[in-house]
Amino acid sequence: MYYIALYHTHKLVITLFILIYLVKFFLLMSGKNKTLDSFSARILIPEIVVSSLFLITGVLLLLEAAEIRGLFVTKIIVVIVSVPIALKAYKSKYKALAALSFLMIIGAYGMAEMNKYMIIHTQTLPENVVTDASDPAYDMVIHGKALYDTQCVNCHGADGTLQMSGAKNLQLSNMTENQIVERINTGKMTMPPYDDFFTSHEKKAISEYILSIRDN
Ligand code: HEC
Repeated sequence: MYYIALYHTHKLVITLFILIYLVKFFLLMSGKNKTLDSFSARILIPEIVVSSLFLITGVLLLLEAAEIRGLFVTKIIVVIVSVPIALKAYKSKYKALAALSFLMIIGAYGMAEMNKYMIIHTQTLPENVVTDASDPAYDMVIHGKALYDTQCVNCHGADGTLQMSGAKNLQLSNMTENQIVERINTGKMTMPPYDDFFTSHEKKAISEYILSIRDN
């Protein structure tokens, strides 16, 4: 619950931050310097609140993050570097710098969105795991656990209860096998979609494993 509230607050303040920024950017670009100054003065307090919330929720989310995904570090660096550039641009009414900081902020936003869809672990299973369903030694739950351990364990934990990055407790989940497969396909919130990543047999094996660790 805590993570979900933080996540949505973070998204909301980022949207507000970008909206304020957009207005300033267009005022500067269209040479309306007087309007820009009076807008900046009027928006100052809300802007400080929004920027502080942006920072605070970002740091709190980071503390709950299961893993630092692909472009994450780059995204944070770009955001941090864009701040002094933006300050300088608006203070000196310097359009090129304003355009640069604008691109950086939009770029960071794009990176955050892309990151969500990135599956970052390569899938190597322990050698002793039988993955051929026609082999007499094949066990679907063991296969499912091995796949789960490569992709899901960082957020959900070995026993399904970890709940990092806002993940749900899988022991308390009451999804059916089909619903689990569907969630693996689509992902949700911070969970990436694994639609094309696993075969339908692999998704079924993972679901069987998840059903096997249930509490109920
Ligand atoms: C980056 C973190 C992350 C990874 C990796 C991840 N999940 Fe999730 N998972 C989540 C989050 C967050 C939710 C909760 C989404 C929501 O309903 O708000 C979730 C929810 C689920 C649910 C739904 C539980 C319920 O009852 O609502 C299932 C099932 C699930 N994950 C399975 C998996 C499987 C299988 C994998 C690996 C293939 C996986 N997850 C990888 C973060 C992750």
